[in-house]
Amino acid sequence: MKVKVKVPATSANLGPGFDVAGLAVTLYNTFVFELLEDGLEITGCPQQFCNQDNLTYRAFVEGAKACGLQFQGLRIECSGDVPYTRGLGSSSTCIVAGIVGAYAFMDRSEERQEILELATQIEGHPDNVAPAIFGGLTVSVMNDNHVTTLNIPVKHDYRFVAFIPPFTLSTEKSRAVLPQQLPRQDAIANVSHLALMVASLINGYDDGLKLGFKDRLHQPYRGTLIKGYDEIMAALEKDEHVLGCYLSGAGPTIMAVIRESDKKGVVRMKEELGHLLNDWQVEKLELDMRGYTCDYE
Ligand code: HSE
Repeated sequence: MKVKVKVPATSANLGPGFDVAGLAVTLYNTFVFELLEDGLEITGCPQQFCNQDNLTYRAFVEGAKACGLQFQGLRIECSGDVPYTRGLGSSSTCIVAGIVGAYAFMDRSEERQEILELATQIEGHPDNVAPAIFGGLTVSVMNDNHVTTLNIPVKHDYRFVAFIPPFTLSTEKSRAVLPQQLPRQDAIANVSHLALMVASLINGYDDGLKLGFKDRLHQPYRGTLIKGYDEIMAALEKDEHVLGCYLSGAGPTIMAVIRESDKKGVVRMKEELGHLLNDWQVEKLELDMRGYTCDYE
């Protein structure tokens, strides 16, 4: 028997919701697990990750411990479209898939809250793993080791246009540039922007989004690590049809939000951004409302 787990990419922070807000999008990684007599076989990812340090394998081991699965050997086949180290939650797809894979061998793959708690422990923060598990747009709060996650009902049908650069930025490096403390006015700005963004999405108040996506906690610091960041954000801000833009997760991907009815949005933005997008990949995505799926083969 094989277990197949498909996990959506995620876009975390949404500007002011650092380590809190995240959404699942229609780009996926798929992992197929099979128990073996012994050994570890990993296919479909770069050779340097085909060993016991593999994140999906480590998550499977943690998942197995948590759900009481005994196993001797494991095969993992990886495939998918989520770009690696670009701020679209590729590591969360690995963590969630590993845990769900182990739970599935114990017929417990739908225990989403327990899977969330363990995934958050491994990832260190819940904002990517929560939407990868529950789908949609989520906000999460960590309290000791407990994670409270709620889905935010988004009123309008939006499209999320991901501008994905050809270069990577590790979350570790991207977190290292953040200050330990913030001035009070920056903290107030972030709290108020996050509240405005969430309320605007629930109420369908598009005029609140441009301001609501503004952040003072991480984007100003991380932007300096991303070639073209200031120019691209400025050009997107000027586009009257762009409802808002933000750095996706730890970057370097930049996300622009448009309405579904803005059919020419991607073509228009590509023209506006012109040479700034040299070699950047542009993906028009929708919200994934399901989170991971798990099947037996
Ligand atoms: N909230 C996280 C960060 C997401 O911005 O560092 C990336 O793991």
